[in-house]
Amino acid sequence: MSARCSRIAGVGKYVPPRVVTNDDLAGMMETSDEWIRQRTGIETRHWVEGTTTTSDLALEASRQALDDAGVGPDDLDMIVFATLSPDHEFPGTGCFLQQKLDCPGIPALDIRQACTGFLYGLAIADQFIRTGAKERVLVVGSEVQSKSLDKTTRGRDIAVLFGDGAGAVVVEATDVLGHEDAQIYSTHLHADGRHARELWMDAPTQTTEGPRITHEMIDEGRHFPYMNGKFVFVHASKRMPESVLEACAANAMSVDDVDLFLFHQANLRINQQVAKNLGVSEDRVFNTIQKYGNTTAATIPIGMRDAIDAGVLEPGMVVAMSAFGSGFTWGSALLRM
Ligand code: ACO
Repeated sequence: MSARCSRIAGVGKYVPPRVVTNDDLAGMMETSDEWIRQRTGIETRHWVEGTTTTSDLALEASRQALDDAGVGPDDLDMIVFATLSPDHEFPGTGCFLQQKLDCPGIPALDIRQACTGFLYGLAIADQFIRTGAKERVLVVGSEVQSKSLDKTTRGRDIAVLFGDGAGAVVVEATDVLGHEDAQIYSTHLHADGRHARELWMDAPTQTTEGPRITHEMIDEGRHFPYMNGKFVFVHASKRMPESVLEACAANAMSVDDVDLFLFHQANLRINQQVAKNLGVSEDRVFNTIQKYGNTTAATIPIGMRDAIDAGVLEPGMVVAMSAFGSGFTWGSALLRM
């Protein structure tokens, strides 16, 4: 007897053409190629130019994902859009993407779970499809980080980490007969708001009498991201392996059954630690942070597309995804391509 599940039918990505090297950053702030490579593994990142927005990057990635799935915007039932760098405060950036794709009427939902946003989006798409409510959902992670960074020495601990980019997947309904069929086996989501202020952007904020942003806040740099780097490192290295093991256990599988690990790309050192904690060799982990830096909600779908293009990810493979980020939020997904 068959069961209704969802599967990933198409994958797309887009990064803007401008490449920013570590040496370029050293021209803007006190930092060095050596410091950045040693601590993070990052060599380059892509930054947008001019008036390019998060929804512009998302449009390119979405078009590629739709082509890859062999469908058009009119075949979509829903858009789920993950970003922490929206085009505007409101409405959600999914609405701007929908306008650009020209598929009015379907729901467009924004996810604000930062680095875990793509996995939250994938889980939502999976659930809407499993219940029979939707047939085909576009899940997008897209970020323009470069416009939100403090590119002076004051902000160097964060500014060197982030890049701009977008990734998208088409998730569609499938009737599976067994374990060997392409499907999303399960998704697992978590949050711990006790640590919300360890990785966050304070302003604009409602915690004053108003207005939500003032000249004083800007002078103090409260509109730039803040991160307690070492604290984040410790929690990410623990939570990501934990959630991979949770996904494996839920499906009576082990990490040995996984062909490829696609982790969020925050720091190469974190992913090396996660692989070590899981007891898996690093050649089973596909990293892209060297080229793109941390593109937050976009890292996992960008990695998927690059892994497919590199011939590392093929139909039939079992993939474990895991992410950790602001909130704190974390989670995992286990699937067969
Ligand atoms: N270039 C040169 N020096 C720098 C830079 C920089 N870009 N940034 C900080 N420094 C200096 C600091 O000022 C400090 O100098 P001091 O010793 O004179 O005070 C020194 O380098 C060490 O700073 P630390 O913050 O202690 O450096 P640490 O070893 O913790 O590394 C890092 C920083 C790489 C951010 C690390 O904490 C880390 O990887 N944290 C994980 C968080 C992460 O990767 N977050 C990404 C976003 S969150 C996410 O996606 C999950």
